[in-house]
Amino acid sequence: MALVGSSELLKKAQQGRYAIGAFNAENMEMVQAIIDAADEMKSPVIIQTTPSTVAYAGPDMYQKMVSVKAEEVSVPVVMHLDHGNSFELCRRSVESGYTSIMIDGSGLSYNENVELSRRTADMARAEGVDTEAELGTVGGKEDSHEVSDKDALYTNPAQAVDFIARTGIQSLAVAIGTAHGFYKGEPRLDFDRLSEIRNVVSIPLVLHGASGVPDEMIKMSVELGICKVNFATELRAAYTKGVRSILKEDGIFDPKKYSAAGREAVRQLVKEKILLLGSEGSAL
Ligand code: 13P
Repeated sequence: MALVGSSELLKKAQQGRYAIGAFNAENMEMVQAIIDAADEMKSPVIIQTTPSTVAYAGPDMYQKMVSVKAEEVSVPVVMHLDHGNSFELCRRSVESGYTSIMIDGSGLSYNENVELSRRTADMARAEGVDTEAELGTVGGKEDSHEVSDKDALYTNPAQAVDFIARTGIQSLAVAIGTAHGFYKGEPRLDFDRLSEIRNVVSIPLVLHGASGVPDEMIKMSVELGICKVNFATELRAAYTKGVRSILKEDGIFDPKKYSAAGREAVRQLVKEKILLLGSEGSAL
């Protein structure tokens, strides 16, 4: 089917107490793997690309790959810009046919973040596109943007209420202790803070930095109200491991052979994540 927006799916997930996986894709094989896995599990799915991914091949290339593949299946597929780092990139993605965007002004002052997020959400809403924004800072490294652990500011519940009222966004990425990339030790998530935010905020909440977070913590986050969970690093690692396993064999030089191995590894991983998030069967 044609690509769909994210807000209706996320609201449905919120009511049903499950979460939708948002998976970062880098190439055609990852797009195929993610959508095939979702189709098999009868789950809605969000495919997302970061600014560096978009810079690699252009937004139109990813938007077209995802929309062509989405047409082949009967589950809802969302095309989302992850960590949009400027109003212009968000606008360019909307023009290209992305059905959902994130504007990340979390590195700015609070008032600057409000202003950028509001302006971006207004632009997107006029085109029927949903906007996610971030308040507080998820630690670690995503693209070229690095946040040291001590600077990772957690989301303040009262400020979240004000932020949503002033920006008109459809979903909020919260900072509760996750970080992008793999973790050095066991991640520690602030579940009390998540509950406090959930109690005062009605729009869907998003968890970033889910790679390497133990399954029980992901499950607990979903129970406490997270409805979108972002996975990037684990997918990249699975793809590369799959490719490497084939390249070990002598005489392999056909990209179709080793890329298919990466694709299969990502498909299996995405199926596992869909089961973890409880969204299987929800597209029926
Ligand atoms: P990970 O790379 O830790 O899975 O984070 C993904 C993410 O939050 C993308 O926005």
